[in-house]
Amino acid sequence: MFILGSPEELNNRLSMKDRLTFGKAGDGLVVAEIDNPHATASICLQGGHVTAWQPKSAAQPVVWLSKLAKFAPGKSIRGGAPVCWPWFGAHATEVGFPGHGYARTVPWAVTQAVSLADDATQITLELINSDQTRALWSHPCKLSLEVVVGRTLKLTLTTGNLGDDAFVISEALHTYLQIGDIAQTRVLGLEGCEFLDKTVAADGVRRRQEGPVTFTEETDRIYLNTTTDCVIEDTQLARRIRIAKSGSRSTVVWTPWTEKADKMGDFGPDGWRTMVCVESANALENAVTIPGHGSHSMSVEYSLEN
Ligand code: BG6
Repeated sequence: MFILGSPEELNNRLSMKDRLTFGKAGDGLVVAEIDNPHATASICLQGGHVTAWQPKSAAQPVVWLSKLAKFAPGKSIRGGAPVCWPWFGAHATEVGFPGHGYARTVPWAVTQAVSLADDATQITLELINSDQTRALWSHPCKLSLEVVVGRTLKLTLTTGNLGDDAFVISEALHTYLQIGDIAQTRVLGLEGCEFLDKTVAADGVRRRQEGPVTFTEETDRIYLNTTTDCVIEDTQLARRIRIAKSGSRSTVVWTPWTEKADKMGDFGPDGWRTMVCVESANALENAVTIPGHGSHSMSVEYSLEN
């Protein structure tokens, strides 16, 4: 049983002077604010959701957050790095279950916070299981997220199976990355990969990527059997964001484009133009079987290259 903790209690227990402080955002959600020699970052305890990361060397944030993002109990936050777990996309059989699982909309607890030798800040969070989560996922399990905020941002999502029986998860670190203009952006690293096209018009067709990914319309693709780094090449901001991962065999690339973003209602005016999601995932046939008393980790590291 975790004690959720008010910002005051967390500040007393875990604060590192100015480097880590806890406060409240929106409709009362608790947020950890990090400011160390390398970067600033924010993590919302609901969802274990990193909502900001900006290296001190960068003129602009690297992690994108919508100007209209809502910080409200039980609601997902538009932007940042939502944790999609224990299923990615729609649930396989239960139409009423939430898309992308429940991890991103339930409370998590901070279990540890330390300053590392290189002045990076490491925070570990754990999803709080409850009757609400067990109604959606009955397997005994422990989900934790380790966040290291430094010159790079590193996220490690670990699923522990606490029961005797194996279970299967799909998952994603659904990170929104800030770019200057989607039309002047390319994603490198997926050349030659097979992908499933999730846009309605494509109707689940599978194709192979030819050359870098470029954007001229809504793009929603699950690339399969790929473990390589991706690089977001951003001509307008004259920078590259490298995404290196391990324990992940799928990469999802998503941009809603104008019509879908307008329908979603929380992107803000033209917000969709300045973001792209490159998600480190295990989806479709890359779903992971975790044996009884076993565990699985998926890590991703974001770094900025000028
Ligand atoms: C992406 C999916 O990962 O997330 C898209 O591939 C989906 O199909 C998008 O639209 C956003 O999902 P949500 O639930 O955060 O609106």
